[in-house]
Amino acid sequence: MERTFLAVKPDGVQRQLVGEIIRRYEAKGFKLVGLKLMQPTRELAEKHYGVHKERPFFAGLVEFITSGPVVAMVWEGDGVVASARKIIGATNPLTAEPGTIRGDYGANIGRNIIHGSDAIETAQTEIALWFTPEELVTWQPSITSWIY
Ligand code: TYD
Repeated sequence: MERTFLAVKPDGVQRQLVGEIIRRYEAKGFKLVGLKLMQPTRELAEKHYGVHKERPFFAGLVEFITSGPVVAMVWEGDGVVASARKIIGATNPLTAEPGTIRGDYGANIGRNIIHGSDAIETAQTEIALWFTPEELVTWQPSITSWIY
């Protein structure tokens, strides 16, 4: 089954949006298979955002993401990578559609509340970067039969 990596960034945690964010993915019918609160090290943050290392916003982005605890999560379900991104909304909260997480709660591209993997391959890399295999839980709720 497809999996994606999501992380509530320090602004989302400090603005007490963790429950609201988890609620949206639960309500959609996706399955939580990994969850932890952690303050990312600089090394982890630089690897995670490595693709952006030449961009002018890189230093500030790493500074921000390491500045406080984040809630790292792995969610599972059919098409979860693309769907989770749709629920998150556009990178810039000012242009993100109302109804999306960033559209509803964000006001600044540098403080956009949540990260979500942008492709299936990226998801696999990010899950392996943030979680050990033992931290991911494989489980079967009986309610699955009502969704799939
Ligand atoms: P990106 O991977 O382009 O966006 P997304 O998070 O939607 O996949 O960029 C990663 C993060 O970098 C983004 O969430 C916020 C930050 N960022 C800036 O601060 N300024 C910028 O101009 C861009 C493009 C991103």
